[in-house]
Amino acid sequence: MVTKTSELPARAAGRAGRDRTTDRGRTADPERIADRLLHSTAARSYDPELDIDWSAPREEGKLFLPEHRSTLYGTPLWDQLTPVQRRELGKHEAASVAGFGIWLECILMRLLAKLAYEEDPATRHVQYALAEMAEECRHSTMFARLIEWMGVPYYRPPRHVHALGRLLTTTAHGPAMWGAILIGEEITDRLQREMSADDSMQPIVRMVNRIHILEEARHIGFARAALTRSVARLPLYELPIQRGVLGRVAFIVARNLINPEVYRSVGLDPAQARRAALANPAHHETIRYGGEKIVAFLREAGMIGPPATRLWRKAHLID
Ligand SMILES: [Fe+2]
Ligand SMILES: [Fe+2]
Repeated sequence: MVTKTSELPARAAGRAGRDRTTDRGRTADPERIADRLLHSTAARSYDPELDIDWSAPREEGKLFLPEHRSTLYGTPLWDQLTPVQRRELGKHEAASVAGFGIWLECILMRLLAKLAYEEDPATRHVQYALAEMAEECRHSTMFARLIEWMGVPYYRPPRHVHALGRLLTTTAHGPAMWGAILIGEEITDRLQREMSADDSMQPIVRMVNRIHILEEARHIGFARAALTRSVARLPLYELPIQRGVLGRVAFIVARNLINPEVYRSVGLDPAQARRAALANPAHHETIRYGGEKIVAFLREAGMIGPPATRLWRKAHLID
C-alpha cells in the first residue's frame, strides 16, 4: 500500500498549509523569500526511496493517465482502441511525460548550479538554489523509478531538442531563464494536481504527483519572484530577445511532452498518430489547461508578446 502524504512520518508531517505557490502580497526581498522557503524545505520534504512503496504491484484496471488527457482522446484512432489498449497508451504517455520531466529537471539543476557557481553562497538565495537542486535530484530519481515501476521504456526528447537543452543551460539568463523553468514546472504541475485528486489513477502515480506538487510549490514561488525582479532590471532593447527565447521554449515543451514512439505500444503508426494528436482539439485543450496559470503570470510580467506571439499560439498555449 502507498502511504498518503498526509500520513507520512517525521520530517513530512504536521506543517500543512505553509507552502504557497506565489509570494504575492508578501515581501519582495529575495533573502526573506529564500529564508522562508529554506525553512519550509527543512520542515516538509520527501525521500521517494523511503516514502513510496515501490514493491506495490500495478493495480488492475487503474489508470496511469486520465483518459481525457491522452493525446488521441476523442479521435477516430481512439475509438478504434479497446479499453485495455487505451490504458496501455496512457501508461506510455505518462512515461513519456516523466522522461521529459527528467530532461527538464537536468536542465534546471544545471541552471541552479550556475547560479550557485556565480553568486554568493553565503546568501539565503543561493542556499535555497542548492536546496532546490537537491529536491530536483530526488524528483528525477523518483520519475526514473516510476518509469522502471511501470515497466515501460525511457522515452527521451528527440535529438535536436536534447541539443537545444544543452544550449539553453549555457546561454539562458534573465527572465527567459526563469520563465523557461516556470513553463516546465507549471504545465506539469497543473496536470499533476488534477491527477492527484483522481481516484481512478494508480495509487503510486498519485503519490508521485502529490510529492512533486508539494515540493514544486516552493520552486514555483522562488522562480516567480526571481522572474519579477529580473523583468524589472531588463533593458528595454533586450525584451524582444527574451520573449523570443521564452516563446521557443514554450513551443518545444508543448510539442515534446509526448514522444511519438509511445503509439507503437498499441500498434499505431507513430507518424500517423502524431498527426492525429496535433490536430486533436481535446489535446489542444489539455495544453491550454496545463499552461493557463503560467501564461497568465507571464502575460502580466510582459513576457508574452512580439516577436514570439505566433509560437505561443502555435503551441495552443494562447488563443
Ligand atoms: Fe521537480
Ligand atoms: Fe522544480
